[in-house]
Amino acid sequence: MQTKGTSAGKAADQIDPASVPQRTLYTGARMPAIGLGTFGSDHVSAAQIAEAVKAAARCGYRHFDCASVYGNEAEIGGALTEVMASGVKREELWITSKLWNDKHAPQDVIASCEKSLSDLRLSYLDLYLVHWPFPNFHPPNCDVTARSKDSKPYIHADYMKTWAAMEELVKRGLVRHIGTSNMTIPKLKLVLRDANVKPAANEMELHPHFQQPELFEFVRTNGMQPIGYSPLGSPHRPERDRTPEDTSPTEDPAILRIAQRHGVHPAVVCIKWAVQRGQIPIPFSANPKNIFNNLLGVTSDPLTEEEMRQIAALDRNCRLIKGQVFLWKEGQSWEALWDVNGEITPA
Ligand SMILES: NC(=O)c1ccc[n+]([C@@H]2O[C@H](COP(=O)([O-])OP(=O)(O)OC[C@H]3O[C@@H](n4cnc5c(N)ncnc54)[C@H](OP(=O)(O)O)[C@@H]3O)[C@@H](O)[C@H]2O)c1
Repeated sequence: MQTKGTSAGKAADQIDPASVPQRTLYTGARMPAIGLGTFGSDHVSAAQIAEAVKAAARCGYRHFDCASVYGNEAEIGGALTEVMASGVKREELWITSKLWNDKHAPQDVIASCEKSLSDLRLSYLDLYLVHWPFPNFHPPNCDVTARSKDSKPYIHADYMKTWAAMEELVKRGLVRHIGTSNMTIPKLKLVLRDANVKPAANEMELHPHFQQPELFEFVRTNGMQPIGYSPLGSPHRPERDRTPEDTSPTEDPAILRIAQRHGVHPAVVCIKWAVQRGQIPIPFSANPKNIFNNLLGVTSDPLTEEEMRQIAALDRNCRLIKGQVFLWKEGQSWEALWDVNGEITPA
């Protein structure tokens, strides 16, 4: 880590990107082990997020997790243009975007990726994910009870048609890697069996109260990189994503104790744990101080093995982003989306 007055001449709120841990994907590409999330949870504006991207790049972030559905790629594109004008090269950045659920039809995949590229003002993406495995449209900000009349379950043959179009993006050089998100082991087994281009990463909810140990191990064993979303337990997530059973990892007494010991915010403990465990956390923040502290957390003062063990024991299987709007039948419970019985929930 570089701080003010060091030989690299960095300011106090800058960290040398070369000191940020990297993960190597099966292609040999290297990806920063932490990224900035860019979903404003319906209360942070696109303009504020563009400012957050610039602040993050200034302090040493090179990895940004975007998505068309976040509604801010055009503003982030403006920010990235400024970042590159300030001297950061395109190849030093890692930019992820995601295909939204109403664009799974093969003919829509290429157009959707091209729209993200044009909004982000880039000629290629480093990673493009299928955001959810369900081809169901629902309007942004809709209520948890909202259902599309055309709702469909996971249909593997259809997913593979979408995936073939994703593979075409790689062939055309529009994206370097493709990946999955919000998947389960039974679904991934089928994709791995049938894909020509293997997913390079799987983005999934991961924090100390939702560690998904089996899926995490499955993803790694099969040569994919786990990317952990909502790594802090998404404390400011929209109302629609809250239920009375939800717990908060940043309020867990064991995390608070470890945070006190290290003199950091509990959020930073969650980030340290995530990187040391091997997933790539993508914490969101619109606050430059938090943005900096999260990056500082992964370049200094690691957790001890004992602290890692203590956090491993905190898992509560507490999924926060349940995805209710993707349910396809009346009276279903959100667990149906996650194949909790070990097989794909029948249509
Ligand atoms: N693939 C998917 O389906 C999917 C689903 C959900 C999320 N994601 C991605 O994952 C990203 C992160 O998830 P998330 O936004 O749900 O939640 P999160 O990263 O777990 O939590 C973000 C919240 O934590 C606060 N925070 C951040 N750093 C902090 C610190 N050091 N101290 C105190 N508070 C801190 C932020 O508030 P301040 O702004 O005040 O710092 C922000 O409101 C998203 O932005 C998105 O890119 C992907």
